Amino acid sequence: MSFILEKRIKVADNLYLSPMGCGTWAWGNRFLWGYTPQRDEELQRVFNLLVSQGVTWFDTGDSYGTGKFKGRSETLLGKFSRDYRGDHQDEIVIATKLAPYPWRLTPDSLVKAYNQSAARVGRSIDLVQLHWSPANYFPWQEKPMLEGLAQLYHQGKVKAIGLSNYGPKNLLRAYNYLLDRGVKISTLQIQYSLLSTHPFVKLGLKELCQQLDIKIIAYSPLALGLLTGKYWDENILPSGVRGALFRQLLPAVKPLLYTLKEIAQNNGKTMAQVAINWCICKGTIPIPGAKTLQQAQENLGALCWRLSAAEVVELDRVALSLKRQMIQNIFQTG
Ligand SMILES: NC(=O)c1ccc[n+]([C@@H]2O[C@H](COP(=O)([O-])OP(=O)(O)OC[C@H]3O[C@@H](n4cnc5c(N)ncnc54)[C@H](OP(=O)(O)O)[C@@H]3O)[C@@H](O)[C@H]2O)c1
Repeated sequence: MSFILEKRIKVADNLYLSPMGCGTWAWGNRFLWGYTPQRDEELQRVFNLLVSQGVTWFDTGDSYGTGKFKGRSETLLGKFSRDYRGDHQDEIVIATKLAPYPWRLTPDSLVKAYNQSAARVGRSIDLVQLHWSPANYFPWQEKPMLEGLAQLYHQGKVKAIGLSNYGPKNLLRAYNYLLDRGVKISTLQIQYSLLSTHPFVKLGLKELCQQLDIKIIAYSPLALGLLTGKYWDENILPSGVRGALFRQLLPAVKPLLYTLKEIAQNNGKTMAQVAINWCICKGTIPIPGAKTLQQAQENLGALCWRLSAAEVVELDRVALSLKRQMIQNIFQTG
């Protein structure tokens, strides 16, 4: 019996997403997330739990897993979907992101990349997003990539098209370009959390997306785990790049962690649940990553309730007062 049944969100005529998805960057990435195949059984349990509870959509990317783990996240999602039997079985949605690698220069090369992703997943992919825009460093590549997305849509290979890491100027240009080709952009994926409000607020993406009826997908909604409160002590941090980043951020972001903790306690929730719920209250669709069954279970508790308006205002106030925010993705455009 599933107990998480919030209304699904329509993003295109035949595509609906649960109000929270699951990000799977860590399901194959060694460099930042220390992935090893020993984790696969637990990841399958994560997948099964989420789907059974109505969180039926998963965000992946053809760059999630490189070298000998090339495309691992897509491959795992394909296997987990095929193996799954249970509630919401027919509602599973896979969204991938195709990277505009420098060797992908033509529309055909993007279509070929899609075909490789679909082969790894073992079926067609529902939502295809361009992972980032090459506009900042190789603007000539952008139109062929958008053209490739249009071809995927018109060939009926995907249900909807999305973009990621686009700023408003660039988004509007891409939107009009695709509209001229009979394709409407359905989603925009950006870094959005209490520690990353920049593109959404300062760049004005919120208003533009409302105007263009584009749904915003919030990636890294837990600020890579920092907002869960488990990395509170500078001496107990994850290894590698994340640890170095958290060590720099922690002194400046403690006021936010205290506020999150207080609001969580008042609601009988955890900090992670409040941080995710805040993204939902802002009208975005968050995709927290989960590596363990316990994390997935906890993140499910972000659904079926909402922070009060006053709590959202208080979180906004503290977040805005911080001297530091999460670093922005180098591929985010204006
Ligand atoms: N479009 C883009 O350019 C882009 C960029 C980044 C991410 N994304 C997408 O967004 C997804 C989510 O972002 P993210 O994975 O970067 O970061 P995130 O969701 O902010 O953080 C996920 C990490 O936080 C920890 N965590 C999750 N739930 C927890 C819980 N309940 N309690 C304690 N710790 C918990 C886990 O790491 P530990 O256990 O190791 O702490 C987990 O891997 C990605 O998987 C990917 O699909 C897209």
